[in-house]
Amino acid sequence: MEEAQSLPPSPPYDLVILGASGFTGKYVVKEALKFLKVPSSPLKSIALAGRNPTKLAHALNWASLPNTSPPIPILKADITDPSSIRHLCTQTKLILNCVGPFRLYGEPVVAACAQTGCDYLDICGEPEFMERMEMKFHENAMETGSLVVSACGFDSVPAELGWMFHSRQWVSPAVPNQIEAYLSLESEKRIVGNFGTYESAILGVSNVGKLQELRRSRPKRAKPVIPGPFPPKGPIIEHQKEIGLWAVKLPSADSIVVRRTLATLTENPLGLPGVNESAEWISKREAFWSMMKPAHFGVKLASKTLLGVIRFITVGVFMGLLGRNAIGRWLLFKFPSFFSLGWFRKKGPSEEEVRSATFKMWFVGRGFSDGNQVSQANMKPDMEIVTRLMGPEIGYLTTPIILLQCALILLSERENLPKGGVLPPGIVFGPTDLQERLQHNGISFDVIAKRALPA
Ligand SMILES: NC(=O)c1ccc[n+]([C@@H]2O[C@H](COP(=O)([O-])OP(=O)(O)OC[C@H]3O[C@@H](n4cnc5c(N)ncnc54)[C@H](OP(=O)(O)O)[C@@H]3O)[C@@H](O)[C@H]2O)c1
Repeated sequence: MEEAQSLPPSPPYDLVILGASGFTGKYVVKEALKFLKVPSSPLKSIALAGRNPTKLAHALNWASLPNTSPPIPILKADITDPSSIRHLCTQTKLILNCVGPFRLYGEPVVAACAQTGCDYLDICGEPEFMERMEMKFHENAMETGSLVVSACGFDSVPAELGWMFHSRQWVSPAVPNQIEAYLSLESEKRIVGNFGTYESAILGVSNVGKLQELRRSRPKRAKPVIPGPFPPKGPIIEHQKEIGLWAVKLPSADSIVVRRTLATLTENPLGLPGVNESAEWISKREAFWSMMKPAHFGVKLASKTLLGVIRFITVGVFMGLLGRNAIGRWLLFKFPSFFSLGWFRKKGPSEEEVRSATFKMWFVGRGFSDGNQVSQANMKPDMEIVTRLMGPEIGYLTTPIILLQCALILLSERENLPKGGVLPPGIVFGPTDLQERLQHNGISFDVIAKRALPA
């Protein structure tokens, strides 16, 4: 008689939140508790991990309020001790990594996941980290079956799902040429971010040369074919009359992440196959990606007033000039409120400030009503579509909502997702029900206008 093949034992936890004691981490715990052991939720067991068990226990207490905290295990794991991170990977199906700046602390976690086959999602917004991890660990992660997806927070899921939602509004033969996203942050109180994000942004600015160096050292990725001419550069400060906002280019991760998804899509026009996908899923995935129409994509930070945009530029100039040398960085880190004009604070925003903030992300697309006619290089777009995403505060409400929904999809539909690899969120979660899930959790997707442009 043949011996029955025994399956490897399932790890004790569905997911582990690493860095749960951090400012964002504790909001991620709060969001995760909403789905723990709820009927129909795939989340049956979680653990919190980090280097300081006392801080982790406090985070759990805070996240459980007004209830008493449930019995959730706390695991000790320190980024500086790779064996503790590898051990963590054997305890769970999935790690949600909230330990940043990722350029300083992220690599040991990605390395351990790629080696052990554990799945990994994070809330990183640092392009150089994401591209470096892709270069170093993509092959390894594909072999072991570890799905490593960075930027599963406000950076960069609204941008990714936002352009896909927008793209679907261009019904053939119409095609977009350029989609510009305008991000506007609103609040009745102050808009404040925690020091962790500020530190990550400054380290990004000060290491911009490393990203260029990394790109030069890699083979060029495929570029999508976009109908029509390259859009004109436009002014540094734009007054977008359509949506009543002033705007300036935002050097965030969003457009880089969208470009990575577009490059993967150009190389795989029907998306990436799932590890054990059903025939029904194959048709859904292929139909989804067939509807996507690539366009030139950029993101701008917007304000209702010109003064608001001048304030953004002032903070950008402080970071750009001072972030390049050690003394300048010391000043930026020592006086975050001063150099960010009050947008970042060492101890982060109050709960009330978090509750009262919201975001709107407008996608203004210009293109052609008949893509078959787009032959002349200097042809002007004759059609415009405006769509909008709207939701709660970006860093500590929207980011945990997105991260948790990505995690729940991963836990419930793993067989439909790629076997492994280091990938951007759009190419992994685009064809899933992530958009509907976000809509159920307070993030709206709307079509605002479709109109012909004057000749
Ligand atoms: N995608 C988005 O839109 C988005 C939104 C929010 C935040 N973020 C990013 O998330 C990251 C965290 O931000 P934050 O404001 O939450 O920062 P934070 O409050 O400083 O939290 C950092 C976390 O990392 C942990 N940590 C640091 N060193 C560690 C080590 N050696 N071993 C294990 N854990 C370690 C800290 O543990 P201790 O408590 O023990 O110090 C803490 O839990 C930043 O990179 C930020 O940019 C992204």
